[in-house]
Amino acid sequence: MRTFTLFSSVAFASTVLAHGNITSPPARQPGAAMQKVCGADAVAAVLADGTGPLENIPSSGSANCNIFLCKGAQFADNQANVQTFAAGEVVDFAAQLPIPHEGPANVSIIDLATNTVLGQPLIEFDTYADENLAVLPANNTAFSVTIPEDLGTQCQVAGECALQWFWFGTSAVQTYESCVDFVVAA
Ligand SMILES: *[C@@H]1O[C@H](CO)[C@@H](O)[C@H](O)[C@H]1NC(C)=O
Ligand SMILES: *[C@@H]1O[C@H](CO)[C@@H](O)[C@H](O)[C@H]1NC(C)=O
Ligand SMILES: *[C@@H]1O[C@H](CO)[C@@H](O)[C@H](O)[C@H]1NC(C)=O
Repeated sequence: MRTFTLFSSVAFASTVLAHGNITSPPARQPGAAMQKVCGADAVAAVLADGTGPLENIPSSGSANCNIFLCKGAQFADNQANVQTFAAGEVVDFAAQLPIPHEGPANVSIIDLATNTVLGQPLIEFDTYADENLAVLPANNTAFSVTIPEDLGTQCQVAGECALQWFWFGTSAVQTYESCVDFVVAA
């Protein structure tokens, strides 16, 4: 019953409170591997609303499930989505923000094995998705990052690194993530 109630509230939120995600480059999607690690409820919540906050995704799966890493989405479900970039390449991002919530945001390279940030964020917004503005700045939904030149041998193997878009709505107290799996051409 408890599970049912939780799922219902997630499904309800999906119809009313879509918030945002990355639409390009292709970002990680839920799938069978995520279901195994994080549970069917978690996959159902993301499928019901791919723009919802991490806080609305129930984690009924194993201890290996970390919703705060790539929204729980697994590399095994996304091997066809791995992008190849060159060091120094400018990568254009598109985001959709159906419901903005003011707060900081960034895109960083994440070491997926350790869930740590490699180097500095590639772009940072002190204030992002400010619902008090009549029109959001164009760079909230279309921006670019540059793949660093100093990654060395890091990020050459698929599944090692992702570009993680991370946005926190301060008043909403809601976190949003999308992960783009990538390799740097050796
Ligand atoms: C973004 O959200 C939309 C709407 O729910 C969904 O169709 C799409 O798969 C999501 N994409 C990502 C990368 O999360
Ligand atoms: C990126 O932004 C999120 C949300 O504001 C924040 O929690 C995180 O610490 C930031 N990451 C870096 C590396 O600054
Ligand atoms: C985004 O655009 C706004 C408005 O032009 C500007 O103030 C801000 O510095 C830009 N942010 C980034 C990270 O480029």
